[in-house]
Amino acid sequence: MEIVKAKISDLDGVMDLHKRYHINSIDPADKPDGFVTTNFTSEQLHALVEKECGIMIARDGGRIISYAMAASWQFWAEWPLFSYMIQKLPENSFNGQSLTVENSYQYGPICVDKAYRGSGVFEKVFYASLDSMAGRYPIMVTFINQINPRSYKAHTQKVNMTVVDTFQFNNNDYYMLACPTKYK
Ligand SMILES: CC(C)(COP(=O)(O)OP(=O)(O)OC[C@H]1O[C@@H](n2cnc3c(N)ncnc32)[C@H](O)[C@@H]1OP(=O)(O)O)[C@@H](O)C(=O)NCCC(=O)NCCS
Repeated sequence: MEIVKAKISDLDGVMDLHKRYHINSIDPADKPDGFVTTNFTSEQLHALVEKECGIMIARDGGRIISYAMAASWQFWAEWPLFSYMIQKLPENSFNGQSLTVENSYQYGPICVDKAYRGSGVFEKVFYASLDSMAGRYPIMVTFINQINPRSYKAHTQKVNMTVVDTFQFNNNDYYMLACPTKYK
């Protein structure tokens, strides 16, 4: 298995995984193990790779088995949920620092192919994504839907994220979580 930054040529494989676990297309039997909700246009995905260097992937035997997205708040601002989170950032602090669009970025969605869950791939891709942003930002921020307990457990127990806030958006309840990008 290799973990690398995605190139444009990887986007078809990334989207294949994304659609398999997206709320609009997931097999109902897979939903209890988590789902993703962010929609991307082809232009947004190209910008995520080319301008933000923001997709980390794990590949096994040529197949993409995991991805993690990460980008500046400026990139995410056009999604209504992220625009709402941007407004909430200054109400929250992490390690004594108020959250801002300058000192933090947004990570997620992340997906691991179900055949590779619980195998350590999640942690490897998570930390590779975090390391890749550490030179640009001291703090990473994300959100998790409260009806995704697998993701909540993975992010709070397998890696070092802590809840900084809860919020409601579009009739959904979310956790807002943060962690330092330098942890070693
Ligand atoms: C979320 C995700 C990335 C986590 O990766 P993973 O490899 O499944 O994570 P792990 O299995 O190492 O850790 C999850 C833990 O939650 C546990 N778990 C599974 N189902 C659970 C549930 N319904 N409630 C609580 N915990 C649950 C697992 O048993 C495991 O704990 P354990 O190792 O102590 O047994 C992966 O499940 C995934 O891609 N899900 C679909 C997409 C998704 O939800 N993305 C995140 C959106 S915020």
